[in-house]
Amino acid sequence: MKILVTGGAGYIASHTNLELLQAGYEVVVADNLSNSSMESIHRVEKLTGKKITFYEADILDKERLSNIFVQEGIHSVIHFAGLKAVGESCAIPLKYFRNNLSGTITLLEVMQEYNVKNLVFSSSATVYGDPEKVPVTEDMPLSATNPYGRTKLMIEEMLRDLYRSDASWNIAILRYFNPIGAHESGEIGEDPNGIPNNLVPYVAKVAIGELEKVNVFGDDYDTPDGTGIRDYIHVVDLARGHIKAIEKLTQNPGLVVYNLGTGVGYSVLDIIHNYEKACNKTIPYAVTPRRPGDIAVSYADATKAYQELGWKAEKGIDKMCEDSFRWQSKYPKGYKN
Ligand code: NAD
Ligand code: UD1
Repeated sequence: MKILVTGGAGYIASHTNLELLQAGYEVVVADNLSNSSMESIHRVEKLTGKKITFYEADILDKERLSNIFVQEGIHSVIHFAGLKAVGESCAIPLKYFRNNLSGTITLLEVMQEYNVKNLVFSSSATVYGDPEKVPVTEDMPLSATNPYGRTKLMIEEMLRDLYRSDASWNIAILRYFNPIGAHESGEIGEDPNGIPNNLVPYVAKVAIGELEKVNVFGDDYDTPDGTGIRDYIHVVDLARGHIKAIEKLTQNPGLVVYNLGTGVGYSVLDIIHNYEKACNKTIPYAVTPRRPGDIAVSYADATKAYQELGWKAEKGIDKMCEDSFRWQSKYPKGYKN
């Protein structure tokens, strides 16, 4: 069965490609390489001994996308392609709306034209805004606090409208909590451009001495140690959730929504201390003011994914930090060397 993976050279997609190939699927990637490198594709091919069909393609380019559908006989699409930096999305919102919204509309139009109506979509826990209670369940109210989050929310709504108009679509919306870590080989991992925005990639750079100290964004939240709490999930567990979602689509479920998280929350200081154990070094940090837009606590209730997909996260925080550090120390410059 052939799966089109948009944004397939990126962080979560590269780990998903590996799981797809190992499970016997054929993988076709469309990526414009705006935030990734071909090297991740080569590494996955090497790790699995299998080929990926790669198209350097922008999902806004309808003709190019159509050609892929004509050439490849696609069965289902996993749609990762998108821009994801929250701060940048506040500074240049139109770029985010153009890329994420127009890109998705173009993809859906082409899928409809070629009668490929199985879709897995990368949504985010950000669609819960500042949740009124934790753990967060899929039926809780949705909102957006920044343009990036708004693109996820708007795409979710678009998908619900599309499904209402045509019940022959099968759509799995996956709301990821905080993906971290890397494949245990240390050959693929997260490779952010410039100084990382997210906590664990930042801690990883401090651990290898590339950055001096971690800035802890606020220690006056209403949490046990005062720092923000999140549901960090190993990227390989997350990748496996996509295989389960693809399997689910073959049962014609209609439109389904799942949280992909561990159900356990860790604070910023918990992460720093667990990372110290993984790298056997002290991670220097300093408390700085809160980052605007951050919330105190978010973690998932992932029961629905367990009940309906038979999926649950298996890797704990130790493994997440160890695997992150292995990738970071093996390839301090990511895919660039
Ligand atoms: P990533 O940047 O590594 O991967 C996204 C990929 O999409 C990149 O390879 C990029 O080059 C490609 N891309 C972007 N715009 C494109 C376009 N117009 N046409 C073709 N390719 C395009 O990011 P990731 O962390 O792997 O995230 C994958 C998806 O999951 C994104 O949609 C992201 O919003 C979502 N998500 C990520 C997180 C996270 O913490 N990483 C959390 C929740 C949701
Ligand atoms: C961020 C995005 C969110 C996105 C998610 C996954 C923001 C505001 N939110 O979530 O939309 O879906 O990534 O990509 O960017 N922290 C520090 N120091 C740092 C970095 C982070 O203390 O240098 C803290 C944050 O305040 C937070 C926690 O660490 O409490 C996690 O932050 P981060 O990794 O950026 O993820 P989120 O903010 O949860």
